[in-house]
Amino acid sequence: MAPKAGRPAAPVVSDGPSWKVQLLLVGSLLAAALATISVTSNLDRFNYISSYPSRFTYQQLPNDLIELASFLTPQPIHLLYHNLQTSYRQFTEQDVRSLNLDRFLVKEEQYAWDRLLDNVHPPGTSKGCVVASPSREKPDYWYSWTRDSALVMKTVIQRFIAGDKKLQGTVDDYIVGVREMQHKKTVIGDFHTGGLGEVKYYVNNEPFSGEWGRPQNDGPALRVITLVEYAHFQLDHGDEKDKRFVKEVLYDGRFPTESVIKGDLEHIAHRWSEPGYDLWEEVQGQHFYTLLAIHSALLHGSSLAIRLADPLAAEFYSAQASLISHRLDEFWSPSKGIIRVSLNHTKGRVSEENARVGDDTYGKGSELDTATLLAVLHSGKGTKWEQNAKVLATLDRLIEAFGPLYPINSQLPTTVSSAVGLGRYPEDVYDGIGISQGHPWYLCTLSAAELLYRSSSLLLNQPEPLVITDLSRAWFGRFIPLGLGGKETTLKAGGKEVKKIVEGQRKLADGFVGVVKEFARRNGSLNEQFHRETGVGRGARDLTWSYAAFITAAQARRL
Ligand code: NOJ
Ligand code: NOJ
Repeated sequence: MAPKAGRPAAPVVSDGPSWKVQLLLVGSLLAAALATISVTSNLDRFNYISSYPSRFTYQQLPNDLIELASFLTPQPIHLLYHNLQTSYRQFTEQDVRSLNLDRFLVKEEQYAWDRLLDNVHPPGTSKGCVVASPSREKPDYWYSWTRDSALVMKTVIQRFIAGDKKLQGTVDDYIVGVREMQHKKTVIGDFHTGGLGEVKYYVNNEPFSGEWGRPQNDGPALRVITLVEYAHFQLDHGDEKDKRFVKEVLYDGRFPTESVIKGDLEHIAHRWSEPGYDLWEEVQGQHFYTLLAIHSALLHGSSLAIRLADPLAAEFYSAQASLISHRLDEFWSPSKGIIRVSLNHTKGRVSEENARVGDDTYGKGSELDTATLLAVLHSGKGTKWEQNAKVLATLDRLIEAFGPLYPINSQLPTTVSSAVGLGRYPEDVYDGIGISQGHPWYLCTLSAAELLYRSSSLLLNQPEPLVITDLSRAWFGRFIPLGLGGKETTLKAGGKEVKKIVEGQRKLADGFVGVVKEFARRNGSLNEQFHRETGVGRGARDLTWSYAAFITAAQARRL
């Protein structure tokens, strides 16, 4: 189109700044913007970006560009990039199952700590809540079980005592959360009338109100064992405020009490002879696991009561404990050669009755259960139980029973020697979500390892000779040649044969850890169970208790 007449055409040459100057201007504006973003968000970031020329290499350029871009892009994109990068790293990271046992133990223990602490008061839960697993459906384990939480917090408290002072807040929050839960009215009562036998709480610390197997009195007993250790430590090493916390919140020495430990002690001291549900939440009766937990809690409680000037209570708790020790003797079956899991058991939970129709023994026909090993680990540490011949005889039978039960056990690598995957009990039908068939459990398999590490260390250091009787002949005969029955065999303390047994037991213990290594997920993640045929993790994922069990087994190996 021709220019309108009378108007001169626009001049062709611009008189603005030259293109070089423009580029410089845009460049400095950009640099200024970059600097502002960097300085205002943080100085480190600024330093990092501005030092780029010193890090420059051609080979790294593509990575550098991606990295620099991630600094300049808004947060969500940056996060996305970060997450992609982490998952890529995790994906390419070495599969824990391919590590040798020593390296596996180091890596897995660290992993277990990370995941365990993730499950203590995770986002969306009240202070003091320890979720049994992050799984919220199939199965829904998004609750604080009193038992699981006490066991998990025991490892946390021991880590605090060993010097990780950052954990004090976590522990104190747990205690405040427990106090809150204890004072809620539950379907079986309140603080003074049996409510402390409640099994699990929602993540806001309200008691669960649906149908369940109640009471489970191992929960409050385990909580006592866990917290008495903390109380003694704080009385020895805490400042004035910590000591006051122990005397006011944990053990007030008053009657009736309002405090956490004494509340649990009163609860169990008055109710241990009543029937309750077992730790697997299935049958009512009297249970070796529960009674040993209560026995140990009462003795620990009694020592704290003496220290905090409550002598009458101390006497009462220890008197109840000695009554219980007689009851514990009754669990031994001379004909089966095992410690039986439960006595006088009656029907189970309404919701699980269908699974046991026509079964008078309610799944307790063999009376064998890894709960016996767990009892010793959770409540009998540092006592005669860890080396008890009846416990070892029970372990012997457990290995025999579970070995042929799960197909994966016949395909294990030779490195695990005669170790096998262990479940809860041979008749178990809980598959981790519903009722079908039972599977091996990580925490049950690890209980054999931990028990063997512990008893080996005691055996190696004991000043007395080892006397092998008919009760323990089969067990020790696994490691050294021993004749059939008859007279007792006495082995010199610390002698060649004792050393041989210790070596054999520790090798077997490593075998149980080896089974766990074989069936962990590639990143180290542990569910509740692993499939009896495929070995794939199943049931609740990242079960907090599985990690606690791994940690205590790894610690026992260092004894
Ligand atoms: C049956 C299991 O055996 C038991 O241990 C579990 O707690 C309940 N079902 C609830 O899932
Ligand atoms: C089922 C187990 O049987 C029980 O002991 C445990 O407390 C819950 N799962 C939660 O982990």
